[in-house]
Amino acid sequence: MKIVSQIKQPIEFEMELFEKKFSVAMSSKVSLLNRITHYVVNRKGKQMRPMFVFLIAKMTNNGEVNDRTYRGAAVIELIHTATLVHDDVVDDSNRRRGFFSINALWKNKIAVLVGDYLLSKGLLLSIDNNDFDLLKIISVAVREMSEGELLQIEKARKLDITEAVYFDIIRQKTATLIAACCAMGAQSVNAPKSEVESLRKFGELIGTAFQIKDDLFDYGDEKIGKPTGIDIKEQKMTLPLIYALNTASEQEKRWLINSVKNHNKDKQRVKEVIDFVKEIGGLSYAVTKMKEYQQQALQILQTYPNSPYKESLELMVNYVIDRKK
Ligand code: IPE
Ligand code: IPE
Ligand code: MG
Ligand code: MG
Repeated sequence: MKIVSQIKQPIEFEMELFEKKFSVAMSSKVSLLNRITHYVVNRKGKQMRPMFVFLIAKMTNNGEVNDRTYRGAAVIELIHTATLVHDDVVDDSNRRRGFFSINALWKNKIAVLVGDYLLSKGLLLSIDNNDFDLLKIISVAVREMSEGELLQIEKARKLDITEAVYFDIIRQKTATLIAACCAMGAQSVNAPKSEVESLRKFGELIGTAFQIKDDLFDYGDEKIGKPTGIDIKEQKMTLPLIYALNTASEQEKRWLINSVKNHNKDKQRVKEVIDFVKEIGGLSYAVTKMKEYQQQALQILQTYPNSPYKESLELMVNYVIDRKK
């Protein structure tokens, strides 16, 4: 069986119902908006975040979920979608999930407003149902994501990023939302506070590995449904390049910085930088780091008794780093 269907097996029913609720949660009376949300719903992503929500809820609550779990999953996926719509504006990216991005089809103005709409729909889904504990979890994640994206821009302008700052950025922009999925899954079934916190940590660890993997994709030329090779163009310095900078000679370092600063739109030069990063071992370094986070995440799961949900979560942790898109 394919790995994803294997992961989904213990939450098959929940994921199907989730998709219906998610699509309803997005709808609007404004026809332009409705056309765009239809476009979004029909080009769904991997849905890893709702999968985390359901698997964690079931693992902590003897296989039971409730309406709050469904709403939590829908809120997270709405917010995730909103941030992707905005992210493609910020990154000036024209592809997403194998199709044109919203900004590519409808331009930035509309993409910004659609992102805001999805964000507000997410928050209202919690508010309208008095899920204030869940709302708190998700609002913290939204704040962190904005800060992470802005910190990334700040560093792209100054080109003075260190490894520690890189990890701060990816924790904020990506890991917090996956951490929120896990906290939310546990909180939705009223798990004890200590358990919510430990599962939040689990999500943060695997979320960090998740973004390292995403940054590695940018160095490849596999078809992943969105552009590759755009990070350097956007002056986004990720772990492989940071490692290269820290390992290179002074002269090479100057060449690297100058390339990213002044020749980032020059395709040939960017390719030379990518080749340099590969040669000096930047990719393998990032893979090693990613696996360290993977192992730490698995350790937290080990504290739980065996169950089909735990098994799926273990598969999911491995899928995060082995996935092809
Ligand atoms: C993409 O997330 C954004 C990042 C945090 C790297 P996903 O890879 O989960 O996107 P979809 O939902 O499957 O398209
Ligand atoms: C991740 O940032 C998206 C958010 C956390 C909002 P990236 O810009 O690295 O993600 P992709 O590669 O476009 O999906
Ligand atoms: Mg981005
Ligand atoms: Mg992007």
